[in-house]
Amino acid sequence: MNSNAGRFEEKIALITGGSSGIGLATARLFHQGGARVLITGRDASRLAAAAEAIGPGTRTLVADMARVEDVQRIFDQVADGFGHLDILMANAGTSHTPALDDVDEAAFDAMSDLNFKGVFFTMVHAIPVLARGASVIITGSAAADMGRLADPLYAATKAAVRSLARTFAAHEAFAGRAIRVNVLSPGPVRTPLTEEAWKDPAVDEYVRNAVPLGRWAEPEEVARAAAFLASSDSSYMTGSVLAVDGGLAQV
Ligand SMILES: NC(=O)c1ccc[n+]([C@@H]2O[C@H](COP(=O)([O-])OP(=O)(O)OC[C@H]3O[C@@H](n4cnc5c(N)ncnc54)[C@H](OP(=O)(O)O)[C@@H]3O)[C@@H](O)[C@H]2O)c1
Repeated sequence: MNSNAGRFEEKIALITGGSSGIGLATARLFHQGGARVLITGRDASRLAAAAEAIGPGTRTLVADMARVEDVQRIFDQVADGFGHLDILMANAGTSHTPALDDVDEAAFDAMSDLNFKGVFFTMVHAIPVLARGASVIITGSAAADMGRLADPLYAATKAAVRSLARTFAAHEAFAGRAIRVNVLSPGPVRTPLTEEAWKDPAVDEYVRNAVPLGRWAEPEEVARAAAFLASSDSSYMTGSVLAVDGGLAQV
């Protein structure tokens, strides 16, 4: 039996970066719960395959979330096609940073444009379409709470969006309409983004040693926490961080 059945009946959910990994697993769970699901990504064929995997009625929107004009356009499309959103997951992001010596201005901008600027404008342009009582989830990272010698830039972008959640949670445009804003903070998750790492025995061993639970998460484990934040089960949570990191950043 599907214990998720009916949980998101009549809800409209938009997940940015919903064609892979954490976003895709979350989209499937929302769909199973009865939501109408919209996903974004840059690659139309990847989006089409994801929509097929998520289920009937899934809508796809091609957009580069690092480009403000694309972000504005998708919320215009949402307004025209659906009228409102009950759930927004600002999830599109990357962790691919060059080694510190190779971080030039272009690499810096590419990372911050997607992970920080993209999330900022996603939230700002979503305001007109978010329904009263909506839930906004930002995909952060355990890296935001740790010193990260390997990727300081990535960690800083995730700390930045954690800060956005604190402010937006209290902002009139959100709190004034009972819209909750929370951060979902995964540790290492086995997705296409991290495939090179979890397939590398040395990195895999490093991760297993660093994480108290001694393993990587599966995307579905993160998706279940996203479903909690999206649903009324978390009705008194806003401005919070929900860590799903096997204890990595907690001990
Ligand atoms: N995996 C982990 O260990 C981990 C840990 C902590 C936090 N996170 C965070 O979780 C989120 C999802 O990561 P994931 O591991 O699920 O990654 P993933 O499997 O690579 O999925 C990323 C998704 O974002 C989309 N995307 C990438 N760049 C985009 C852009 N410029 N505009 C629009 N969409 C874009 C991708 O589609 P296209 O490439 O087709 O655009 C894809 O749908 C990210 O914010 C990541 O930082 C991941």
